[in-house]
Amino acid sequence: MKENIALIGFMGSGKTTVGRALAKALEMKFVDIDKEIVKLEKRSVAEIFQENGEEYFRELERKIIDKESRDNNIVISTGGGVIIDNENIKKLKNTSFVVYLNCDIDCIFERVKNKKHRPLLNVDDPYKKIVELYNKREILYKISCDFSVDINSNSYLYDTVEKIKNKYINS
Ligand code: S3P
Repeated sequence: MKENIALIGFMGSGKTTVGRALAKALEMKFVDIDKEIVKLEKRSVAEIFQENGEEYFRELERKIIDKESRDNNIVISTGGGVIIDNENIKKLKNTSFVVYLNCDIDCIFERVKNKKHRPLLNVDDPYKKIVELYNKREILYKISCDFSVDINSNSYLYDTVEKIKNKYINS
């Protein structure tokens, strides 16, 4: 069994919510990579993107992944773009059981459509942007994970947590 659990998946797939509940259920610490970036920079993700661009954000993301993946007994919630960088996945995989929250596009859209804190989705047609990014990233999520759990609008948090917990304990 690996020391940690890392949750990957598209924006709005529930990584933070599931991660918190999972950490509680397994008595592990919870770490949210985006929150660590915000803490370090003392400004929001949207401000970082606006003021310094996406590449600068990705550098911070790599730095925090590097730091957190060395820790142990933690559940790590990652940002949706973490899989873009192969090094991130390698580092996470060294110490973590990597779980993909495989949420369908309509469920993602419903969850993110009224939220304004995701710079990549602050565009005229967010649905189109989701489909575009999803099509590029889906394969990366799939090949990067040790376990994948399907999520849709009818999924219950408790069931998702139980599925991951059981798979992790038996890993
Ligand atoms: C991003 C996802 C966001 C955040 C940033 C970029 C992405 O995290 O890291 O806005 O590229 O998918 P969530 O997946 O928690 O929304």
